[in-house]
Amino acid sequence: AGSKIEVLNRKNTEALLGGGQDRIDAQHKKGKLTARERLDLLLDAGSFEEIGKFVMHRSKDFGLDKEYYLGDGVVTGYGTINGRLVYVFSQDFTVFGGSLSETHAEKIVKIMDLAMKNGAPVIGLNDSGGARIQEGVVSLGGYADIFYRNTLASGVIPQISAVMGPCAGGAVYSPAITDFILMVENTSYMFVTGPNVVKTVTHENVSSEELGGASTHSTKSGVTHFSCANELECIQNIKTLLSFIPQNCEDTTPRYAYEATDDEYRPVLDRIIPENPNQPYDMREVIEGIIDEGSFFEVHKNFGENIVVGFARLAGRSIGIVGNQPAVLAGVLDINASTKAARFVRFCDCFNIPLLVLEDVPGFLPGTDQEWRGIISNGAKLLYAFSEATVPRITVITRKAYGGAYDVMNSKHIGADLNYAWPTAEIAVMGAKGAAEIIFKREIAQAEDPEAKLAEKITEYQQKFATPYRAAHRGFIDEVIMPGQTRLKLIKAFKMLENKVANLPRKKHGNIPL
Ligand code: COA
Repeated sequence: AGSKIEVLNRKNTEALLGGGQDRIDAQHKKGKLTARERLDLLLDAGSFEEIGKFVMHRSKDFGLDKEYYLGDGVVTGYGTINGRLVYVFSQDFTVFGGSLSETHAEKIVKIMDLAMKNGAPVIGLNDSGGARIQEGVVSLGGYADIFYRNTLASGVIPQISAVMGPCAGGAVYSPAITDFILMVENTSYMFVTGPNVVKTVTHENVSSEELGGASTHSTKSGVTHFSCANELECIQNIKTLLSFIPQNCEDTTPRYAYEATDDEYRPVLDRIIPENPNQPYDMREVIEGIIDEGSFFEVHKNFGENIVVGFARLAGRSIGIVGNQPAVLAGVLDINASTKAARFVRFCDCFNIPLLVLEDVPGFLPGTDQEWRGIISNGAKLLYAFSEATVPRITVITRKAYGGAYDVMNSKHIGADLNYAWPTAEIAVMGAKGAAEIIFKREIAQAEDPEAKLAEKITEYQQKFATPYRAAHRGFIDEVIMPGQTRLKLIKAFKMLENKVANLPRKKHGNIPL
């Protein structure tokens, strides 16, 4: 029996070494951790249980019958993060460059299937040279098996992808379907075709980092939600993200201990909106003024910055926040802002996270660029996402709510549960100057002093419409509140809405304008 135990011990030791010490050293030299080191940092100490440690590939071509590694380039299993069950896979670049073989894919599929049956998140740490080139189509089949499961799992369990090395070609489509992508600056990249192919086809000279690095995807394409300075920050962000979201679509969000202080009045909020309605302010200050101190976790920070989205806690409970950002492009809705917010709203709705909308929007961004690229169908995504969301939904209009954007931004008419406005709110079809110029065109032209007439009409329109009261008279606004009261009002309102049940009409699925 002694020798049999020795065989097991030897195999266990061998598996831990992946592609061998030299390749581990090479990985470290690139500033990257190994697959197992990453899991050690991600999971609670001692909680990791590995599945499929001795799996090997079955290929015989191109010399692979002489090269085997236990585990075949991916470490898979389950463990806990802050005591909560998660399933994980971590690609091992030291084994065939972390490339995906038939068996490598089977290991990932196995833990995804377990995660679906048991209702817990899947976290993938990607670091791979793509399809195992020596294997051909079985490797491509393996990818598709994963994509298919990513799709079926979407909206059932949270799926998080960290890209911590290469992720190219077909490999990108698994992260793309998952809920969140995190990337590490300077050591990770994602693209459908790499710089060499790009040069051949479009004659562009571009580096990997420029084509598909973390900063590119967090600013230009919006493919990644979090750009992290290093691997440690990336892993920390995964843990923070998980702290806001439930285990699956039938679960409720984690509840954190919270003790009410004084009367929850936040005077700082009374001082944020500038006297001049055209002067910008930072919506993040409003957010910070409302939520539990320091709990805001921003998503997609550097993409579509004219809208701010992220998670926070209010009296210990998770909420998702969507806020127009008057400090960037006056907070207009454009294509990027609409798609960014729509995706976030849909994530929150999938996973029972109540939505808070902070509204200060002058309208949609005009111009040929926006129209030709489809602001109509893209803006419609946000309208659609809010309309079909059944989680508790509250809007606070801090200042502007103009035109179609008023309807889109979680208005009462599309199913919001409660809509508040601050006394500084302006709810109208358009700004007073534009409105006066159109409806009093003839009167102004015929006036002795057209300029004075225009000014008079602007004031008239402003006094009538640039307030929250017309909407409040109609009941489109439930209450006009002092900014400082917002936190207290929201704590009470979200508690009141805690057991909300809303059902959509029966259908196979909707047809969101993609
Ligand atoms: N299939 C099989 N083996 C692969 C592989 C793949 N797709 N990608 C990398 N490897 C192997 C390499 O042969 C090398 O093996 P070795 O350690 O025995 O020498 C090892 O992984 C490391 O690769 P290397 O090229 O030395 O690392 P790098 O950091 O310089 O470059 C890549 C990384 C990903 C840019 C590069 O390996 C690459 O271009 N791979 C192919 C990508 C691709 O086209 N994939 C198929 C399309 S999905």
